[in-house]
Amino acid sequence: MKLDIAVLPGDGIGPEVIGESVKLLEALGQRCGHRIVFNYADFGGISIDKHGEALTDAALEMCRGCGAVLMGAVGGPKWDDPKASARPEDGLLKIRKSLGLYANLRPVKVFPMLLGASPLRRELLEGVDFVVVRELTGGLYFGRPKRRWQTARGWRGVDTLLYTEKEIERILRVGFELARQRGKRLTSVDKANILESSRLWRQMAADMAPQYPDVELRHILVDACAMRLIQRPAEFDVIVTENMFGDILTDEASVLTGSMGMLPSASLSGVPQEGSTAFGLYEPIHGSAPDIAGQGVANPLATILSVAMMLRHSFGLGEEAVATEAAVMRVLESGYRTRDITSPGQKELSTREMGAAVVGAI
Ligand code: IPM
Ligand code: MG
Repeated sequence: MKLDIAVLPGDGIGPEVIGESVKLLEALGQRCGHRIVFNYADFGGISIDKHGEALTDAALEMCRGCGAVLMGAVGGPKWDDPKASARPEDGLLKIRKSLGLYANLRPVKVFPMLLGASPLRRELLEGVDFVVVRELTGGLYFGRPKRRWQTARGWRGVDTLLYTEKEIERILRVGFELARQRGKRLTSVDKANILESSRLWRQMAADMAPQYPDVELRHILVDACAMRLIQRPAEFDVIVTENMFGDILTDEASVLTGSMGMLPSASLSGVPQEGSTAFGLYEPIHGSAPDIAGQGVANPLATILSVAMMLRHSFGLGEEAVATEAAVMRVLESGYRTRDITSPGQKELSTREMGAAVVGAI
């Protein structure tokens, strides 16, 4: 089979973790007889420096022509000036919105051998296995007006939390369908005690529930959810929530697994179905980590696990996906660790060594 993959390494540790994922894909391709074509483009800060914008239209069109996009990370102190007209993150928002990737799946599953790497007590973490379905193309990230302006009484800034019925319906549907495929428990997260958009969301979730009698729907306020994620994380199965809440809750959830360096994500334009494939964008949930960029110590596993999601959802290569995930498990079982997940007495591997260990374990 031929796999056309757009590769956007981006900034900071992005190129390092992407490098290991590409090596893994090459090894898999050889092993399984797939021809993989990697199409690279500049993305994020590096693209601003070279082309004046975080993602050029040409790069976007290149991505659109591929079967999937594999992305590293964007941003860094060099491009952090709040007065700058172009920001690396704009590229991320542009690609998500232009390609209609409204459903962001962020699986949070603790690895038994990493229980000690989390600051939480072991007994709280056992059995944690849930997916956050984060709405990705609406809400505060995109609502208009969105601007800063000067008045006689000083500066003002506004962002708009806007959701249409259609946007809420389709993301809730992804939540219900995924819950149906998994443990049949859906938690819808909102702030319905304060926000109108959340009241619409909650109402729509309740209205859809009768279509999914096999799924148990719960509503929870986002602040309570933040607390519950730490108190009783094993209770969750599928969480569905709006863009900004999902952004915040998934950083929090990553602490459960011991490191952000372990969490993959997929951004899709529909419900992932077994037996059918769809275009998607795959990226680790961590950022560009400028503090460790270029040192060769970043954890490539989140990106490698994102590759597994890509093989499964965009190319229908379930066996290769399972092989990749199993290789990651085997490497962890063998005690291999990058700096972010090392416990005292364990040998620390570089990014490259970890990548090579996974390739070796396939
Ligand atoms: C994420 C990131 C992005 C977001 C940033 C880099 C724009 O935090 O994917 O969670 O806020 O969506
Ligand atoms: Mg985030």
